[in-house]
Amino acid sequence: MGGGYSGGASGSNRTYGGYLSLHELLSLQRDAEGISNDEMHFIVTHQTFELWFKQVIRELKEIRDILATEHVPEAQIPKAVEHLGRVTEIFRLLANQWKVMETLTPQGFLAFRDELGSASGFESYQMREMEILLGLEHVGRVSDMDPLAHFRKLASRSEADAIALARLEATLEETTLVSSLTTWLSRTPIMGSFYGSEGDSEVVEAYVDAHLSAYSSIGEAASARMEAQGVDNIEAVKARFEAASQGARDFLKPDGDINRARAGLLFIESYRELPLLAWPRVLVDAVVELEESMVLFRTHHARMVERIIGRRVGTGGSSGVDYLDATTKYRIFGDLWGVRTILLKPELLPALQNGEMYGFAGEDAN
Ligand code: HEM
Repeated sequence: MGGGYSGGASGSNRTYGGYLSLHELLSLQRDAEGISNDEMHFIVTHQTFELWFKQVIRELKEIRDILATEHVPEAQIPKAVEHLGRVTEIFRLLANQWKVMETLTPQGFLAFRDELGSASGFESYQMREMEILLGLEHVGRVSDMDPLAHFRKLASRSEADAIALARLEATLEETTLVSSLTTWLSRTPIMGSFYGSEGDSEVVEAYVDAHLSAYSSIGEAASARMEAQGVDNIEAVKARFEAASQGARDFLKPDGDINRARAGLLFIESYRELPLLAWPRVLVDAVVELEESMVLFRTHHARMVERIIGRRVGTGGSSGVDYLDATTKYRIFGDLWGVRTILLKPELLPALQNGEMYGFAGEDAN
């Protein structure tokens, strides 16, 4: 807005307050009810979170729509990365904003806590909308909770709650970010072979098998080395390496069939230096960074809550801190985290085929 506003109602006649609807915005903190500074702080903090959530929802939809296009134009990937970066920064900001909340003392909170009744952040429909848009499923939530169940109960209470429920139900019908990302990953050209092209399955299977075999051999070599060194409990160590090899097979070939999205992800992560894979790699990193920032946001919330209310039951009736800590285990983009476990150092990677297609001449670019 700089110094460009000059008063009035529209265009060059607009005022700062008019453009931002400041009068309306600043009349929403219940000053007239004579609330304490502590309670005003509690309300303002929540409202600012919700305002940022609103922006995050817009950003997530934009990213999802870019990735959901059948052939994502190259130039659109940097756009998606830009929006992801903004969401990450918002969550970082919010993770720090808990610090402001922490200036509320336990006693200060108890002074007005009863006023909240059963109202709780648990009823933040924007939080649920973000989670649904990203692709957090019921299975995997604490107690496989259906996030809409509570909103169905609230919907009979007021029109606003009915609208919130309708909004969440509509979001459930939409494509999620994780599913559009997965579809996009599954189209990654692997060893020069395109998704759906003749012979693609054979090329991808050969690549995955070569990777798996290298991964198993490093496990075998490591356990042999440890055995030679007389490491304690060698049978347990061997079993751990075998389980890791099996885990890698299950990841890339669940039920024996190749998962092409995971194979594409593995390829992007393994041959990171290839020019054609540069933006896909940045995109994958940006998604991991976003999820990390959300996990930290949840973690900081739990610590703030522990500091203010200890281990008491939440106003929403949950176990409080234990519930919040359990939500820090959520991983929506589990494959992006999981692939890290099975990466290999560059010299052990299967030899790159058709390297020229990715921007390098020759077949031994790795
Ligand atoms: C004194 C400050 C706060 C306390 C003591 C507190 C406490 C809690 C507790 C105990 C829960 C678990 C549900 C329940 O049983 O109520 C919860 C959930 C939640 N709170 Fe807070 N909270 C505080 C501030 C905030 C603020 C400022 C926000 C910002 C919007 C917020 C957002 C949320 C959200 C989104 C959930 C749902 C988490 C989930 O289900 O994944 N909380 N809070």
